[in-house]
Amino acid sequence: MIKRPRRNRQSEAIRSLVRETHLTPDHLVQPLFLVDGKNIREDIPSLPVSQRLSVDQVLREVEECLDLGVRSFMMFPAIPEALKDATATYSYHEDNFYLHAARQVKERYPEICLISDVAMDPYSSDGHDGLVRDGEILNDESLPILARMGVAQAQAGFDLLGPSDMMDGRVGFLRESLDEAGYTKTGIMSYTAKYASAFYGPFRDALDSAPKAGDKKTYQMDPANRREALIEARLDESEGADFLMVKPALHYLDVIKSLKDHSSLPIAAYHVSGECAMLVAACQNGWLDYETAMPETLLSLRRAGTDAIITYFAKDFAHQFKARE
Ligand code: PBG
Repeated sequence: MIKRPRRNRQSEAIRSLVRETHLTPDHLVQPLFLVDGKNIREDIPSLPVSQRLSVDQVLREVEECLDLGVRSFMMFPAIPEALKDATATYSYHEDNFYLHAARQVKERYPEICLISDVAMDPYSSDGHDGLVRDGEILNDESLPILARMGVAQAQAGFDLLGPSDMMDGRVGFLRESLDEAGYTKTGIMSYTAKYASAFYGPFRDALDSAPKAGDKKTYQMDPANRREALIEARLDESEGADFLMVKPALHYLDVIKSLKDHSSLPIAAYHVSGECAMLVAACQNGWLDYETAMPETLLSLRRAGTDAIITYFAKDFAHQFKARE
């Protein structure tokens, strides 16, 4: 035998020379669920690695993550039912606790990258990402609401806005609105290829944001489609997106690879709640080993071409990483 691939695997020193993919806390974004109030840490039964936090606890969490090298965060609000309405007015209300929290977090930790969620569903009495009329999700009528929400978030100090609504034309509409309001430095991490997926369940439990009627299939993408993601990518790029995101992540590695091959923009992947929850469930059953299965999962996202991974495991990974250093 002239060719023996095992020669390059025989010691950790050689393996480290030929390793093609690296994963460090630099690549990770930690999602945070925010609730109104003080000193609150509520468990989310379907997502055991995460909790709902009041702003004081969010500040604590950010500090702990920073010490471990995780510097980017995505924050989502759990809005009380009484504050929801058909047009999501609370999303840009001046008393909005999510906007206040963002301001506090950025004042205390100006060095972090704080990412928002732009969509109507947490604030909508219909639980949809856009405006609903006679059972239809309206596109163009939703854009001004989303833009108003986005400008309020920019004003609160978010570094990147994350439009997750999948309305057509929203990235361009948002970019124009931000620029007109003077927020030329606020970036857009677009949910470019967001699929109508079964893996968002625990997230909707966390925020109580499931649609009251119907599903999201007229705006989120069909899980059967890969080439369609390239149409979305070209649009987002031409409309001024700064990052392209694929969501979910693990079940869509081919889509990540396609976007990476076709775009020069950085690619983000959202390792969503259901994808994290099933790994945790298997580990709790003793069927998989968390210490090894979790980092292997995240590494696969890097290998597929992901630049920035949004994952509920960010802090745990950073812990492991620090212990190994
Ligand atoms: C809201 C939004 C969702 C997620 C992120 N932003 C849920 C949805 O579209 O129903 C899901 C994230 C996750 O499952 O971790 N537009």
